[in-house]
Amino acid sequence: MWARLRLDIGWNDLAYGLLSIFSHRDSNAAQKSLESEWSEERDDSLACLSLRSAFDLLLTALKLPRGSEVLFSAITIPDMPLIAARHGLIPVSIPVREPDFRVDIDVLKELLNERTKVIVVAQLFGNRVDLAEVQAIVGPQGVLIVEDCAQAWFCPEWRGSPEADASLFSFGMIKTATALGGGLARISDPDLSKEMRRIQATFPRQTRRAYLSKLLKASVLKLLAYRVPLSIVSQLASLLKMDFAKLLSGMTRGFRHGDILEQLRRQPSVPLLELMRRCLRTYPQSRILQRCQNAERIRMALRTCESLCLLPDCEQSHWLFPIFTDQAASLIAVLHEQGFDAAQRGSLQPVSTSFSERQPVSDDADALLKRMVFLPCYPELSSAEIDRMCSVIRDWWCSVVAVLQSHQFSD
Ligand SMILES: Cc1ncc(COP(=O)(O)O)c(C=O)c1O
Repeated sequence: MWARLRLDIGWNDLAYGLLSIFSHRDSNAAQKSLESEWSEERDDSLACLSLRSAFDLLLTALKLPRGSEVLFSAITIPDMPLIAARHGLIPVSIPVREPDFRVDIDVLKELLNERTKVIVVAQLFGNRVDLAEVQAIVGPQGVLIVEDCAQAWFCPEWRGSPEADASLFSFGMIKTATALGGGLARISDPDLSKEMRRIQATFPRQTRRAYLSKLLKASVLKLLAYRVPLSIVSQLASLLKMDFAKLLSGMTRGFRHGDILEQLRRQPSVPLLELMRRCLRTYPQSRILQRCQNAERIRMALRTCESLCLLPDCEQSHWLFPIFTDQAASLIAVLHEQGFDAAQRGSLQPVSTSFSERQPVSDDADALLKRMVFLPCYPELSSAEIDRMCSVIRDWWCSVVAVLQSHQFSD
């Protein structure tokens, strides 16, 4: 079985992380060297426990009046709007449009009002949408643009879009160049960044033990990414009637269920800071290149399957390769039978429209997520296996079209 995602970390990095558990380095020094290296001495970055921690810090530092509105592009992880709500703010969803998930500018114009203080745009699946249009609309109103780059990191030099006031990056378990946690924030306003740093310094530090447990989990997950162990464990799980996908997603979860703010409010531990720095320094760009080549191979192989590959040929690092179909469940089942663990939505959810009274209820984002199937695209997938996966999809596609046509004729 080819897993949907592989942990993007080498055994050497894991060993380095394990050794760093015993590092005697001063935490402030470790934090400073990571931040100044990433910002090339521009002094505009902050290393945090996670992207969500950075977002929580940002909202705390902004001290917005209760009832202020935070606009979110409609698809993200549920914690992001929840964090805003916990700050007494009102999350408002802006629909996103196929094929590149950019926010609907007409709706954005309608939703903007004097209570709108922040807009959060998630760059999804490795896609990087130009924010110039968003800035042209919200900039004159003084709305802070936050760019969620959790799925968009591809090289240390890219520190977010120039239009964003804050670009937030995640190095969580399933992300590109993972450090098994950690976030980096680039903040344009030095006063805001200073205030975030001041607040973070009041938090307790993540314990080395907590980070050690992440390193051990990651080692198990890395072993499970090999095809033979994955097949054995997934068959074992089905024999024992255990939900294997749920088991895996539990192991990759950054935080436990429970009070999220309490868990986010920690300073990153020294070994986490050290591993983040190493990953930024040594991440092989050839992996991103290979991902892009794999994506291009998939795109070419599926070009005859009309409307399946919608992602435009734009700036992309292909964290995942989404395809779109109304028969998602059937395609996933066929791919599973052939040894490809394709998946749907993962932890992504539509931003709930129930936070705001003035927002029309809309199922658009949910419908979009239901139509999406993520194909594995990581560098370890060989060209022969990509071709086999695409041929499975093409055969499936032909059978779907044949059934549709026979229905049309019988009507
Ligand atoms: C779109 C998006 N935003 C935010 C996050 C949260 O990142 P972190 O786990 O570093 O808090 C994720 C993580 O999966 C994500 O996919």
